[in-house]
Amino acid sequence: EKDGYASFMLKEIAEQPKAVADTLLGRIDPSGSLTLDELRITPADLRQIDKVVIVACGTAFHAGLIAKYAIEHWTRIPCEVELASEFRYRDPILGGRSLVIAISQSGETMDTLMALRHAREQGSKVLAICNTNGSTIPRESDAVLYTHAGPEVAVASTKAFLTQLVACYLVALYLCQVRGTKWGDEIQAVIKDLSKISEEVERVLETMEPVRALARTLAGKDTVLFLGRHVGYPVALEGALKLKELAYMHAEGFAAGELKHGPIALVEEDMPVVVVVPSPRNRSLLHDKIVSNIQEIRARGARTIVIAEEGDEAVVPYADHLIRIPATPTLLQPVVATVPLQVFACELAAARGNEVDQPRNLAKSVTVE
Ligand code: M6R
Repeated sequence: EKDGYASFMLKEIAEQPKAVADTLLGRIDPSGSLTLDELRITPADLRQIDKVVIVACGTAFHAGLIAKYAIEHWTRIPCEVELASEFRYRDPILGGRSLVIAISQSGETMDTLMALRHAREQGSKVLAICNTNGSTIPRESDAVLYTHAGPEVAVASTKAFLTQLVACYLVALYLCQVRGTKWGDEIQAVIKDLSKISEEVERVLETMEPVRALARTLAGKDTVLFLGRHVGYPVALEGALKLKELAYMHAEGFAAGELKHGPIALVEEDMPVVVVVPSPRNRSLLHDKIVSNIQEIRARGARTIVIAEEGDEAVVPYADHLIRIPATPTLLQPVVATVPLQVFACELAAARGNEVDQPRNLAKSVTVE
């Protein structure tokens, strides 16, 4: 059932445009308004919310970190993101006006399940974002928004992650719609771009051959660092997690602004450092700062692998390897920027002779705490 692909992971990476399109299907109407009646939380309840708390593990946690930027920027509702395994042990402050969002591909992750049970005991409403129909997490939640990635077999999460991002954007935009926050040109433009994002993912997939070739040349390295700012920071964390679990390499993701506070000491001659560059259009200050970060690490000998928007010329002089992604609004960029990192990790793992679909020591769903 791998349909000719060398691994389920490669097949699932290739299925991402469809997974994203299926998750959007029927949820945005032609006029640009969202229909999420399936949520089963009434608009009146959604208008009452004064805080959003996201709980998840692993890759789903990274989707939550990205969702925070979108939720706070678009809806102006404070949002916290917490590792599900840490959540209930610190006695979190929750109430009837908190909305807890539990993100899980499998719907069976015990840490996430225990976090949501704790939230419900405190009287909060729980919304599950889940890929598995009828699994435990959605069954125990007040509401559910299903991702339509289809079955994900490879242990490493790929298409589920992209659809989790899409589901989070939909929830954030729906909150804007029912609460009337910023409901105007900016949000309408985002909805339009979101409805076309699967085509952008398709375009990225068509240009991955140089990424594969590059990954093969790095099979002998010990360490790869990943840097990003803003939503590029969780993307960097996700790129590092993929490389750890698949290639069994030392990989770390950092907020690029933190470099000078310690991690820059790690940089050695010819060490690969992947940098996720934000769009130069919307947040030019952010963009310029990361260009200086790239210069700093390159001056210390790093081999820079730069992921940047088409047309971003400022990065060219400092990129030893340049990976282009299509221009998207800043908050949607993770949907396209993550894809090269998945391909990179998958190819590097294969080049090191690892079992891509079943990495050592890992299970697809973790049903113990
Ligand atoms: O099924 P879930 O989304 O709840 O799983 C959460 C994590 O265990 C999962 O994302 C894990 O980190 C993946 N192996 C990442 O590729």
